[in-house]
Amino acid sequence: MVNYKVADENLAEKGKEALYIAESKMPVTADIIRKRFSKEKPLKGVTIAGCLHITKETGILARTLKAGGAEVYLCGSNPLSTQDDVAAALVQEGINVFAWHGNTDEEFYWCIRECLKAKPNILIDDGADMIVTAHKEFPELIENGTIIACQEETTTGVKRFKAMNKKGALKVPLFPVNDARCKNQFDNELGTGQGIVSAIYGMHVLFAGKNVVIAGFGHCSSGMALRARGLGANVIVTEVDPIKALQAKFAGYNVMPILEAIPDADIILTATGCKHVIPAKTEVFDNLKDNVILGNLGHFDIEIPTKELYEHAKEIKPIRTNVEELIFPNGKKVYLLAKGRLANLVLSEGHPSEVMDMSFALQSLMSEYIVKNRDSLKPGMVDVPTDIDDKVGILKLQSMGVKIDVLTNDQYNYIHGYLEGT
Ligand code: NAI
Repeated sequence: MVNYKVADENLAEKGKEALYIAESKMPVTADIIRKRFSKEKPLKGVTIAGCLHITKETGILARTLKAGGAEVYLCGSNPLSTQDDVAAALVQEGINVFAWHGNTDEEFYWCIRECLKAKPNILIDDGADMIVTAHKEFPELIENGTIIACQEETTTGVKRFKAMNKKGALKVPLFPVNDARCKNQFDNELGTGQGIVSAIYGMHVLFAGKNVVIAGFGHCSSGMALRARGLGANVIVTEVDPIKALQAKFAGYNVMPILEAIPDADIILTATGCKHVIPAKTEVFDNLKDNVILGNLGHFDIEIPTKELYEHAKEIKPIRTNVEELIFPNGKKVYLLAKGRLANLVLSEGHPSEVMDMSFALQSLMSEYIVKNRDSLKPGMVDVPTDIDDKVGILKLQSMGVKIDVLTNDQYNYIHGYLEGT
């Protein structure tokens, strides 16, 4: 029996089309790993719950985990990122899905709880909400060993777990998959980088010649700065980390504090994992340029002070799907994308499938690793093993028909030794 609550089961046919497209673009997860999983069934008898953006790519991950023998439960990791057609299609395939676009905070946590009620053995989170809920409301799953280990998909989630671990509050083995090289160097940089295209979808504006402020110069934001520049924008970077700021400066961007950048900004895009990157103050709001576009690609909707902007506006007009015009008391207009939530997922379909192939290949292989090593895992943060990270890189290259050099023994000994010098 499949357990589920989705928006509309009749959308399944459309969802199947989306999944069909993703299949061909995710050869590592959908083909190489899935074929082996189908034969070897490394996840037999295991229940996996994913709190993830319900996109066609997540559907491919779910199919691969199921092919490996797992019972799969899914709920959304953001109230606005669920693609309802994909959710409906997955239910038809026997995946248990509790997710719909536009759920309230209360419904969001209800969906998480429905997944946890299935007594999952592995949790795959994106933002930490499911694993934190397991700690708070389902401690027995941790105490009695039902949950073997967990994986975290995004930077904000990893940061939350690091804080939890420091306080001794993290009671499960936690793999920060986000920090694997095959994840954050590709998913975050390329995926979110291309995500600025969603901002264009949202407003259909030309980037060329615009002053585009990118808050942050980390994995996601440096990718965004690069793409914005490629589109002809005058890119201004704001940072709080001096080294990242230097990197941005030497990469040729203008670097300045956000308050200096605000008056001339035509578009402001944030991806920092921080809160109130645009300070939540009336005088700052009043200083925004008329017609400025505000978009966030970081995990939560507080990077741009969404709530305070709504409170400040004297009028809020939806002008197209997931884009609102806020009219301020001083008469200026501000265009807010995706209610301050992840613009690339809400206004578009999230990261391209090719990029998610690597992230979800990692999640698939890590699920297998967790089952194989279930008896030796200890609570706390544990890095993704390098050989699994490398394996995903090798498989991705293979799938693209790219060959690379291999160190000879002599070269290996040289770079790992100290005797040969001048
Ligand atoms: P990161 O740690 O590599 O980069 C964040 C950067 O923002 C750092 O350089 C930091 O110094 C800077 N920063 C922090 N506070 C700031 C402030 N107040 N003003 C200016 N800069 C500030 O993190 P990463 O991987 O780039 O992730 C950023 C956010 O994007 C996280 O919330 C993450 O979960 C989310 N994310 C979103 C994705 C999407 O699909 N939209 C995909 C992957 C990550």
